Amino acid sequence: MERNNAHTILVTKTVQQVRDQVRAWKKEGLSVGLVPTMGFLHQGHGSLIKKAVEDNDRVIVSDFVNPTQFGPGEDLEAYPRDFEADRAFCQDLGAAMIFNPEPKDMYQDPKAYVNIEGLSDGLCGASRPVHFRGVCTVVSKLFNITGADRAYFGQKDAQQLAIVKKMVEDLNFPIEIVACPIVREADGLAMSSRNTYLSKEERQAALCLSKAIFKGQESIREGMAAKDLLDLMGEVIGQEPLAKIDYIDLVDARMLEPLDRVQGKVLVAMAVYIGKTRLIDNFIWEEK
Ligand code: PAF
Repeated sequence: MERNNAHTILVTKTVQQVRDQVRAWKKEGLSVGLVPTMGFLHQGHGSLIKKAVEDNDRVIVSDFVNPTQFGPGEDLEAYPRDFEADRAFCQDLGAAMIFNPEPKDMYQDPKAYVNIEGLSDGLCGASRPVHFRGVCTVVSKLFNITGADRAYFGQKDAQQLAIVKKMVEDLNFPIEIVACPIVREADGLAMSSRNTYLSKEERQAALCLSKAIFKGQESIREGMAAKDLLDLMGEVIGQEPLAKIDYIDLVDARMLEPLDRVQGKVLVAMAVYIGKTRLIDNFIWEEK
C-alpha cells in the first residue's frame, strides 16, 4: 500500500474541494478510506484512523457536528469542539484530509432523509427519535461526497454500526464497512467525547457502566439466562447513586430485535445517565 508520509494534511471545507481531490486520487488508482467523526477526537477515533491508514492509500477524516442527529433539547450547542487539536491529531496519524464543512454547506433546506426502519426504533432510538435518521442522512452524504472504498465505525456505537451496515446493504452503497473494537480508558470507561461533560465525582461514578459490562460478559460466559443477566447488570448500575438507567437490553446483533434468551450472536447494550450526561456501552456475545 502506498504511504502518504511527510505530508501536511489537507483541510477541506466544501463538497467540491473533497470531490476534486478524490477524483485526482482515484485517477492515480489510490484507494480511499473514510472515518466519519463529529470531532473532539480521542484515542477511540485514533484507533479508527490508524486502521484506515493501514488499509487505504489515502484517508479522509470528516469532522462535522451534524445538527440533524440532535433532537430538541439535546447537546448540539454544547457538543465539545476543538478543530485545531483534531487537525494536528489526524495529521500525526497519517490521514491525508480532514473535511470540516459548515452546516450551511452540508444542508440547504433539506427535504431528503435516509431512514432505516425497525433497527432505529429500539435501544437509543427509543429516547432519541430523530437521531438515527440524522446519522444515516449525513453518513449517506459523506459516502456520496467522498466516494470512499471503506468506512470505519466504532463498536461503541453498536446500534449506529448495525444500522449503517443495513443501510449499505439495502441501498447498495459501493463501500465496505469496517467495524473497530471499543477503546477504553485504563480504568475501563469507554472513550467518548461526551466524557468531557463529567465532573470528577461523575467520572468516578461512570465506571459503573464498564463494571456492569464486565460482569455481564463474565456471567454470559458462565451460561446465565438473559433475564438474570440484565437484572444483574441493572443491580451493578443501581449501586451507583449518580446513575440512572435509560435502558439495558439484549438484542439480536444484526437486526437488533429483542431476545428473551441468549441465542446466536447477541448484543447487550445500555445507556445510562450519569447526572445529565447520557453514556452508552455494550458487548457482543456469540454462542459457540
Ligand atoms: O459516531 C459519530 O460520531 C456520528 O454519529 C457520525 C457517524 C460521525 C455521524 O455524524
